[in-house]
Amino acid sequence: MSIIDVKHLSKIYKVSLKQPGIKGTINHFFKRNYRDIIAVKDVSFSINSGEIVGFLGANGAGKTTTLKMLTGLIHPSRGEIKIINYTPFNRHANFLKSMSLIMGQKQQLLWDLPALDSLRINAAVYEISDKIFNKRLQELAEMLSIKEQLTQPVRKLSLGQRMKAELLAALLHHPQVLFLDEPTLGLDVNSQAAIRSFLKEYNQRYEATILLTSHYMADITELCQRVLLIHEGELIYDGNLDQLVEKFAPYREIQVELPHPVSLEKLENYGEIKTVIGQEVRFLVKQEKLTETIAKILAQLEVNDLKVTEPPIEEIVSKIFEIGNVNLTHL
Ligand SMILES: Nc1ncnc2c1ncn2[C@@H]1O[C@H](COP(=O)(O)OP(=O)(O)OP(=O)(O)O)[C@@H](O)[C@H]1O
Ligand SMILES: [Mg+2]
Repeated sequence: MSIIDVKHLSKIYKVSLKQPGIKGTINHFFKRNYRDIIAVKDVSFSINSGEIVGFLGANGAGKTTTLKMLTGLIHPSRGEIKIINYTPFNRHANFLKSMSLIMGQKQQLLWDLPALDSLRINAAVYEISDKIFNKRLQELAEMLSIKEQLTQPVRKLSLGQRMKAELLAALLHHPQVLFLDEPTLGLDVNSQAAIRSFLKEYNQRYEATILLTSHYMADITELCQRVLLIHEGELIYDGNLDQLVEKFAPYREIQVELPHPVSLEKLENYGEIKTVIGQEVRFLVKQEKLTETIAKILAQLEVNDLKVTEPPIEEIVSKIFEIGNVNLTHL
């Protein structure tokens, strides 16, 4: 059963253009010039109850704008959104109680208070009884492995602990639908993994529906079978993650630490050079050429260290667009 239904959604931001200086300000006052930024363009999709869907796209593609429309923070310029039969922008109390928006770079917990105090405030806002509050607090705190930290002022928590507390606050009212905008942004690898497994468990335990953006590939590969790919405001792919990665991201990054500088000309023999910083070189190499390339590098170059990583989703996505004018909609 579909729980999120989006039809022909568009968002156009009007940005005023002002010339610099006082003259510009005066001119601007009398005659305003506006430019339209089409942030989201005719996007349609639906998501079934219980699904976890990844929302991918380069910087500025329109992900946050879409999430803001889905949660009713901004009004769509065109199109229609139904979430559990509510129109988000109406901000119906029942709608607000059934969803949550979690933004990795924004916090709702009050800095100088213990998280527990903020949680109590949330409980009051969402009209959660003491009994249910205590039950949920215990349950979520256990799932997140966070406990005594909740009685510490938020400013004393580590970034990972703070994100856990944020999640607890955002989920206290047991929303059915979760929108997450970069929930693991800036976290260390362990905290990222903890957040991921928590989201997985929350999804399974409460059959919650989740739409999330992340620039970390691992978040997407571990949580989402299905992804939506947005490019310059347009939805260009809606389908299986495996197929997307297979088709468009057959790349790995090889990071090599050289003891001596090596000429670019020579380095180019091993693959596409992504960056050279001092004696650290990063190559982008097709997956099927990975073993061969590593062998070649180790045989022909003096190397202090060599690492292979998946390029961040950001790069995979931009690679996808480099491959070019492939008509992605026909996949
Ligand atoms: N309030 C705003 N006013 C004007 N333009 C905006 C506003 N918010 C976003 N934009 C523009 O709309 C486009 C989409 O931005 P959005 O924040 O949705 O991208 P995003 O996919 O979330 O990017 P990122 O991965 O960097 O977070 C961009 O061109 C951005 O500059
Ligand atoms: Mg964003």
